[in-house]
Amino acid sequence: MSAREARAQLERHPRSSWRDDPTHGARFWLEIHDGFRRESDGLVALLDEHRSGRRTAGELAVISAPRLTGLVARLRNHHEIEDFEYFPAFRALEPKLAAGFDVLASDHVRLQGHADEALGALGELLAAAANDAAGAPHVTDRYVSRSDDLCRALARHLDDEEDLIIPLLLERR
Ligand SMILES: [Fe+2]
Ligand SMILES: [Fe+2]
Repeated sequence: MSAREARAQLERHPRSSWRDDPTHGARFWLEIHDGFRRESDGLVALLDEHRSGRRTAGELAVISAPRLTGLVARLRNHHEIEDFEYFPAFRALEPKLAAGFDVLASDHVRLQGHADEALGALGELLAAAANDAAGAPHVTDRYVSRSDDLCRALARHLDDEEDLIIPLLLERR
């Protein structure tokens, strides 16, 4: 199947139709991705609360820490399953879609880079908050920016991955 056929497949199964009649496979995929979207939205909501003055930097650090570390750990696990189990199976099923899966696999590497940046910035924010350090605003801004980058990149990746895979699953139900 060419990239053009993949686009045609997406037109036959547009995003607006996915939740009307999902197969078990499509439903499973969407539920996992929706879980990541909820976790990501929760992190972004905390950033917004800080920006609007409803959360101090210290509160932002302490509340974000378990959420971000949990999200990153679950994401790493999810990507390993995709890279080593699901993508090879889809590549075998549709060898001509290999380029699409190459892009998704490189997204995983890029997302891990964003995750490492966000975790590094969180560590600095936690240390600054614990020491009530001067200069904390700069450290806070860095965390806000890095975690925002991660959440935006994740949202794009989830959409791109679904655009390739969900129509493939629905076409073969
Ligand atoms: Fe993925
Ligand atoms: Fe995924």
